[in-house]
Amino acid sequence: MRIIEDIHEMRREAEDMAARRAECGLVPTMGALHEGHLSLIERSKAENDITAISVFVNPTQFMPGEDYDSYPRTWEKDLEAAERLGMDIVFHPSAEQMYPPRAQTSVQVHGLTRGLCGMSRGQGYFRGVTTVVAKLFNLVRPTRAYFGQKDAQQALVIQRMVIDLNFPVEIVVCPIVREEDGLALSSRNRNIPPEYRDRALALREALLLGRDLIRDKEYDAFRLATAMQERILQDDEIELDCLDIVSPETLEEVEKVDDLVLMAGAIKIGGVRLIDNILVGPDGPWSD
Ligand code: PAF
Repeated sequence: MRIIEDIHEMRREAEDMAARRAECGLVPTMGALHEGHLSLIERSKAENDITAISVFVNPTQFMPGEDYDSYPRTWEKDLEAAERLGMDIVFHPSAEQMYPPRAQTSVQVHGLTRGLCGMSRGQGYFRGVTTVVAKLFNLVRPTRAYFGQKDAQQALVIQRMVIDLNFPVEIVVCPIVREEDGLALSSRNRNIPPEYRDRALALREALLLGRDLIRDKEYDAFRLATAMQERILQDDEIELDCLDIVSPETLEEVEKVDDLVLMAGAIKIGGVRLIDNILVGPDGPWSD
């Protein structure tokens, strides 16, 4: 396994892979690897000659007052996991190399970034994500890149960026991986204070309630959203960041569930921001 910390070395490695016509799968991460990341790695390994993960806590996607400093950093454990999984490359650049002092360029996807997390965290959040992912694509030059459906909006935004800017990379979106009780896996779960852990399921339960109401033929998006929001706000220590019912392609809010919709939300509990979503339509699916 090669650990590459220098962006020039990463470039040389990418050129070497291209010369050998080796297909490379990239799993971009901010570290604190969990089973969700591992499922992306497994998929990449099955589909590519070489799998690289990047481990980089990207400062530009944290807005002022967010958890950049307390974001979990578990570098030694991440390396052990990468070794165990037989990773080929771990790319671990420094912020100084990724963002040289006179950097003035960013990548912004408009439209798709307006609602959901773009609304609650601000436009700068997705600008930070797309800028760093574009840089990672240029440095690693992957054939395929793997993202989780938990960050459904992020996956769509990156797909849009790849089409709009003609990046020669295929975006593969993999299913959400959950803990046994249904909580979507996230690096931030480690920061949930133990006394809040059970209540962190409120968002998942609200989304399941929405799904059950659709199964019972409630198709009015306003009434569905209200019922789901009320479920979350039963716990007055939970802050509701957003909960919307949108088209899974455009992320525009829908008025009626007459096709597949994405129900997606974010809550803050015990100081930790958690997101989750579910895809459902008038004909299901009724389980996931
Ligand atoms: O999903 C994440 O962990 C990050 O947003 C990503 C894609 C690695 C970019 O920093």
